[in-house]
Amino acid sequence: MKVPKRLQPLVDDGLIDEVLSRLMSGKEADIFIVRSRGEIRCAKVYKDAMQRSFKKAAQYQEGRKVRNGRRARAMEKRSSFGRKQQEEIWQNAEVDALTRLSKAGVRVPDTYVCIDGVLLMELVTDDEGDVAPRLNDVTMSEEQALEDHEVMMHYIVLMLCEGIVHGDLSEFNVLLDEYGPVIIDLPQAVDAAANNNAQAMFARDVNNMTRYYSEFAPQLSQTRYADEIWSLFEAGELTSETELTGVFEDSNEAADVDSVIEEIKAAFAEEQDRLERIRTAAED
Ligand SMILES: Nc1ncnc2c1ncn2[C@@H]1O[C@H](COP(=O)(O)OP(=O)(O)O)[C@@H](O)[C@H]1O
Ligand SMILES: [Mg+2]
Repeated sequence: MKVPKRLQPLVDDGLIDEVLSRLMSGKEADIFIVRSRGEIRCAKVYKDAMQRSFKKAAQYQEGRKVRNGRRARAMEKRSSFGRKQQEEIWQNAEVDALTRLSKAGVRVPDTYVCIDGVLLMELVTDDEGDVAPRLNDVTMSEEQALEDHEVMMHYIVLMLCEGIVHGDLSEFNVLLDEYGPVIIDLPQAVDAAANNNAQAMFARDVNNMTRYYSEFAPQLSQTRYADEIWSLFEAGELTSETELTGVFEDSNEAADVDSVIEEIKAAFAEEQDRLERIRTAAED
């Protein structure tokens, strides 16, 4: 096909030999199948910031560190330099996350380069060499669903051990090849420790996956993996070897009575002070 404008620089640099087809036009990116260094690969072309909702981006970027003062100021001012920096951080976040997850043992596409707003990565394929389907496009046996759900929960643990919450994990962002699930689409990955929304996003990710697999294995809908994993993580007890049960008991210890009493005492003292001030004022 004719080379799309955004891929031309990579063609000029010899990173792409030929653009074969457009695979998908998604919310945040256009995906092309390309030939690169003699192999069939996938090129993800990020859409411009202007085409994306920046409100949403801000929620995800909370806690993402920017060390350089000039950078931080420019980003605050939303100068065009700042916007460009925001873009690069967004795009690099996906390569960074993919690289870290791959090292941690999570199945994700291999990445080759991220340049000029284009991420060149491995094309995930099925056993016939066709583009791998998304979970949303397949059905499976109960047994397979239970097995894959377990694998997915393990990947989610590995991600969290690496400090990463996917942030948009669903049946649309997991591909299925002959070896099992492959996780994709991570530009919005969040830092588990630094982002206040991390726990809520984590629960949504886990519950999306459990809901999907429970279509084929209904017993999964009774499980409490999100709560189980997060509480181990918070307690500093989560490791790549943690054996999950899917069972979670809500804490039924009595509420922390001492601190409630302290609060009542403090409120009482404050009220006494207020009355005292009124009395003194009236006496004057
Ligand atoms: N490495 C890949 N291999 C095969 N298909 C892919 C790959 N990356 C993306 N896709 C396909 O393109 C779609 C959009 O890519 P994605 O990274 O999810 O971007 P978006 O932000 O637009 O959702 C995916 O749902 C999937 O079908
Ligand atoms: Mg997607």
